[in-house]
Amino acid sequence: MSASAVRTGVWFIGARGSVATTATAGCAAVAAGLHPAAGMVTETPPFAESRLPTLTSLVFGGHDTVGCPLPKRAEALATGGVLPHGLPSAVRSELATADAEIRPGGPLPGDTRSDEELINAFAADLADFGRRNGLARTVVINVASTEPAPAPGERRLPASSLYAAAALRAGCPYINFTPSTGLRTPALQDAVAGCGLPHAGRDGKTGQTLLRSVLAPMFVQRALPVRAWSGTNLLGGGDGAALADPGAAAAKNAGKERVLADTLGIAPEGEVHIDDVPALGDWKTAWDHIAFDGFLGARMVLQTTWQGCDSALAAPLVLDLARLVARAHEKGLTGPLPQLGFYFKDPDGGPAALFEQYMALLTFAETLRGEK
Ligand SMILES: NC(=O)c1ccc[n+]([C@@H]2O[C@H](COP(=O)([O-])OP(=O)(O)OC[C@H]3O[C@@H](n4cnc5c(N)ncnc54)[C@H](O)[C@@H]3O)[C@@H](O)[C@H]2O)c1
Repeated sequence: MSASAVRTGVWFIGARGSVATTATAGCAAVAAGLHPAAGMVTETPPFAESRLPTLTSLVFGGHDTVGCPLPKRAEALATGGVLPHGLPSAVRSELATADAEIRPGGPLPGDTRSDEELINAFAADLADFGRRNGLARTVVINVASTEPAPAPGERRLPASSLYAAAALRAGCPYINFTPSTGLRTPALQDAVAGCGLPHAGRDGKTGQTLLRSVLAPMFVQRALPVRAWSGTNLLGGGDGAALADPGAAAAKNAGKERVLADTLGIAPEGEVHIDDVPALGDWKTAWDHIAFDGFLGARMVLQTTWQGCDSALAAPLVLDLARLVARAHEKGLTGPLPQLGFYFKDPDGGPAALFEQYMALLTFAETLRGEK
């Protein structure tokens, strides 16, 4: 088969959510030349020779537990200012095609299936998707609602781990863009070790933590001791509602705090808070307040305000990751990909500062070159 005829599946867990809908609509818009690829690192010159799947070769599908059709979800995002006005109608047929490939997720309340039965059902959906669409491979990406960390002693796998296990069973590379457990559970240790597939995670680094991974090295390099680093986030949308659950918020905040501990070498005083403000929709405000010492103990403070559209920040990264991990799979790479730490709050190893992570990504872009 010629390289241009190869089609790559992108299977979203949470396929009807804001991030997945923005990625699906955005891919169609950029591929059609309706919008520039702002935010897509894989569309920049260092990746030109990496033989990544083209945007037009991506085929979308996924699981979700709600039934709202993708074109309708996209209209709602346009009303909220996340997608440009007119875009949902311009890419309506691509959204409808992706919508036809979304299968019911789980487990829903009252579902009596065992973990094993759920994993088999999800893996069968993946295999069916690949077969019907003649796909060379399918990358599974978790962009479902953040779930709380499993309670100690819990015997059932969390939903994110059921899907992750299904991806491995179906022979699909896996990406966890959320702070949920996914592959990181002792229950899947053997399956992960023996899967022979590339995987990457966890929790996309799109806003406050992105800024932290740039600023923290500055304090270290200028020998300015950080005394306290506090943060507050206000956001609405589905993510805001999910993170109103203290368990889910704790899972999210652990990643934000890890970036500081890894970069500064200490965990500074201060906490991160997430407040659900439904009126803000997908628009997030994040404040950081950093207290640091200067020469002779002079006390100083840096404050930052980040105002971002969460899904517009996340969607290009999700497309980048799908392309990079698909190519890694084609190249025969297996196991965790610390080279993709640039994209994650809680990566699979590698450096913690954004600049070094970017350098590692560029080296990875070179690794992906070549005939095969
Ligand atoms: N900047 C960002 O937007 C950003 C950054 C990092 C991580 N994330 C993570 O990405 C995820 C998605 O964010 P969003 O704003 O799209 O949220 P959202 O609430 O809009 O979408 C989540 C989707 O997941 C679905 N879902 C819930 N449980 C499911 C299950 N068991 N099986 C299948 N689908 C299920 C929901 O029905 C919903 O459609 C969140 O976990 C969020 O923390 C987002």
